[in-house]
Amino acid sequence: MKFRVLAAVAAVSLASYATAVVAQSDVIKQREGLMKEWGQATRPVGAMLQGKAPFELAPVQAALDVYVKNAATLPTLFPEGSQAGSDALPAVWEKNAEFKALFTKFAADAKAARAAITDEASFKANFPAVVRSCGGCHDTFRAKS
Ligand code: HEC
Repeated sequence: MKFRVLAAVAAVSLASYATAVVAQSDVIKQREGLMKEWGQATRPVGAMLQGKAPFELAPVQAALDVYVKNAATLPTLFPEGSQAGSDALPAVWEKNAEFKALFTKFAADAKAARAAITDEASFKANFPAVVRSCGGCHDTFRAKS
């Protein structure tokens, strides 16, 4: 009887352990997916900045919109203990307040640029400072692969 109870307890805790592991890989997939969206939205705009593609306002606005949108969710997708199997560095949790604040600042900068950019000149004046924050955060918080 006692053994059965213990076995049942063990089975339950194993199951919840498995759930926690699955939940963590889900959260990693989710945050990497949102980062990928940022990468995809940035690519055509980067080509414009380098003069490899003609300026177009719509993709610039689309990129800035997705920066603002995903920055609202991303800070919630780095729970304690979700480093393994990802490129997030321990600094994400060691300097968590600083890490989260970078998303807030990034969203505010993107919002301001969204309002300021109306043509090619204002694009060249305002966009580079926004995307500099991508590398700025990666330098400290993302493993180089
Ligand atoms: C506040 C910090 C921060 C900012 C700002 C940030 N990133 Fe990231 N990024 C990360 C971290 C941390 C990871 C690693 C996440 C992981 O592997 O779980 C990452 C991963 C990525 C990845 C790889 C995703 C994958 O498939 O593994 C891409 C692409 C990326 N970021 C693009 C961008 C772009 C583009 C910007 C700017 C528009 C940006 N990031 C801004 C922190 C940031």
